[in-house]
Amino acid sequence: MSNQTRDAEYTMGRSAGETERLIEQSQLYDDVTRRFFLRSGIAKGMKVLDVGSGAGDVALTVAEFVGPDGTVIGIDVNPDILKTAQDRADAAGFANVEFIAGDVRTLELPNDFDAIVGRLVLLYMADPAEALKKLVTHLRSGGIVAFQDTELALYRTVTHPDTPLINQLIEWGLAVFEGSGAHLNMGMELYRVFVDAGLPEPTLHFEAPMGGPEDWPGFEYLANSFRSLVPLMEAYGIATAEDVDIDTLAERIQVEVATSKRPLLLPPHITAHTSLPA
Ligand SMILES: C[S@@+](CC[C@H](N)C(=O)[O-])C[C@H]1O[C@@H](n2cnc3c(N)ncnc32)[C@H](O)[C@@H]1O
Repeated sequence: MSNQTRDAEYTMGRSAGETERLIEQSQLYDDVTRRFFLRSGIAKGMKVLDVGSGAGDVALTVAEFVGPDGTVIGIDVNPDILKTAQDRADAAGFANVEFIAGDVRTLELPNDFDAIVGRLVLLYMADPAEALKKLVTHLRSGGIVAFQDTELALYRTVTHPDTPLINQLIEWGLAVFEGSGAHLNMGMELYRVFVDAGLPEPTLHFEAPMGGPEDWPGFEYLANSFRSLVPLMEAYGIATAEDVDIDTLAERIQVEVATSKRPLLLPPHITAHTSLPA
């Protein structure tokens, strides 16, 4: 991981389409995150801080884990997306989920959380270990720290001569995340970040959705991810909207998968959790 002094530009942009993509993404990674919270020990009655809530999917999942006697506070720097998050929490009938706009590293927050969780957020922070050190000051003793993030650098290992389109997408994707200043190897770096933040060594898992069937939603999701990435790809001179040809992309990926008989691997996620001493 590079020693950055600035946060990454939010690589995926801030469009309404991006909010939809985050929800679509959550559906594909839902079981990964649920298994993660189960083994982390998120349980009924807990008070949980969700870092970088986006459209609210992680906070809504946590709300199910903590039940009506627990509480969830979700934070995001983007106040607009939190309106979607709050509407979704209200529509689901969760009276115990609240969202607050601001940078989680500088907001005034209580110091009695039972757990702090975050998915796909540390990769955008200039110094994730420093951020984590600050965040855990909001935990009670014995509190849980649980972060899930993506490992984009390892993605290159799945390129294959029979999948030129997927290989190209991987290269474009890595180039734009790198250009934006995001940490490409955030997943593998979670271990070091926990240890450098002074936390007990985390338990780690590595998971990724994969698929091949024509009706698998991963094809559309990957194409929509490129829809969000295209503005920065153009700004950085990596590729144009014409090169990417978004409207036919999902179908072209699916055809390549069917022809090559190589399943599509979505970005791998690494989960890390630990607890403070009691
Ligand atoms: C990729 S989204 C993930 C959303 C959600 N956690 C999920 O997995 O569906 C990352 C979110 O983190 C937010 N974010 C990034 N840095 C932040 C910070 N320092 N404080 C609060 N939110 C932050 C971004 O605005 C963005 O909405």
